Amino acid sequence: MSEEQDDAPGLFEGHRVLITGAHGFLGRFVQIAFTEEGADVIAPTHDALELRDPSAVDEAFLEVRPHVVVHLAARVGGIGANQKHPGTFWRDNTLMGVNVLEAARAAEVERVVVIGTVCAYPKFTPVPFEESHLWEGFPEETNAPYGVAKRALATGMQAYRDEFGLAGAYLLPANLYGPGDNFDLESSHVIPAMIRKCEEARIAGRETVELWGTGTPSREFLYVEDCAEAILLSAARVDEPEPLNLGTGREVTMRELATLIATATGFEGTFDWNSDRPDGQPRRSLDVGRAREVLGWEAATSLEDGLAETVRWYRDHPEG
Ligand SMILES: NC(=O)c1ccc[n+]([C@@H]2O[C@H](COP(=O)([O-])OP(=O)(O)OC[C@H]3O[C@@H](n4cnc5c(N)ncnc54)[C@H](OP(=O)(O)O)[C@@H]3O)[C@@H](O)[C@H]2O)c1
Repeated sequence: MSEEQDDAPGLFEGHRVLITGAHGFLGRFVQIAFTEEGADVIAPTHDALELRDPSAVDEAFLEVRPHVVVHLAARVGGIGANQKHPGTFWRDNTLMGVNVLEAARAAEVERVVVIGTVCAYPKFTPVPFEESHLWEGFPEETNAPYGVAKRALATGMQAYRDEFGLAGAYLLPANLYGPGDNFDLESSHVIPAMIRKCEEARIAGRETVELWGTGTPSREFLYVEDCAEAILLSAARVDEPEPLNLGTGREVTMRELATLIATATGFEGTFDWNSDRPDGQPRRSLDVGRAREVLGWEAATSLEDGLAETVRWYRDHPEG
């Protein structure tokens, strides 16, 4: 945006923007997006600000008095991490969200953008998922504690809007991927896990890669930089209580994804689908019509280009 408007002031010139989780995978791109638009970005690390501690959060917000808060911090992970730590995922995400909303109210923040997740949708939702279906069922069991904790924040935001006039947006991004993702197989999401397994097999000359599940579930993937742009635009343009989907609208099955990743990595072997491992939600794809309408935004990066960029990054950073 700035490139097209060389002399125009940035969208957030003169605004203090506090970003939680700013040093995580998505946060690093969100920091860049706001900085490029002239914001004075405040990006406390986890060590500097423990978001589960209500008085620490209140104190930090009252000291900084941000105009805008973007709440990204969360305990996140793939199916394995969600299954191993359901209590931690539910507790930490609930505590952080409640503390951030309450501190934003007390510090009279002008706009709060909260990042939810596609995992908050019910297990069986008509595809593509429309925002109005968010409450019509319970999330898929493997990620329900995470999804429910995140979904409760949508209600929190609406309640704080109604009672205290807290303005802002609640966003529901599809599964994210891109440079800087978590490639640790213990906690990673599906794309970095597949990239790592294919790369390691290619280098070792192995002909088979084992992947989780049956390969039939579908997902939608949003390139991390595109998501950061949508968050920036939401902070500038959205003040409404309804959640907003962020995605591409492209649904791919796990088998299709594996083939794309084999192409991107140059792995020429075959996949062994381990159906003893969970599939997770059967289908996921978002209706992105409202984001187009409300934000005037569409994801710019194709899955093929985004995967190529992610593989390039992983080859430069094999330690993750
Ligand atoms: N990744 C996805 O596919 C995806 C999809 C949809 C929505 N989202 C949402 O996008 C947001 C960012 O996700 P991400 O993938 O960037 O996650 P991430 O890389 O794990 O980043 C999360 C950040 O939150 C920080 N954090 C966690 N607990 C904290 C606490 N108690 N106090 C302070 N900071 C804390 C982490 O710091 P430490 O690492 O130091 O603990 C980390 O910097 C999350 O809200 C997530 O739900 C992600």
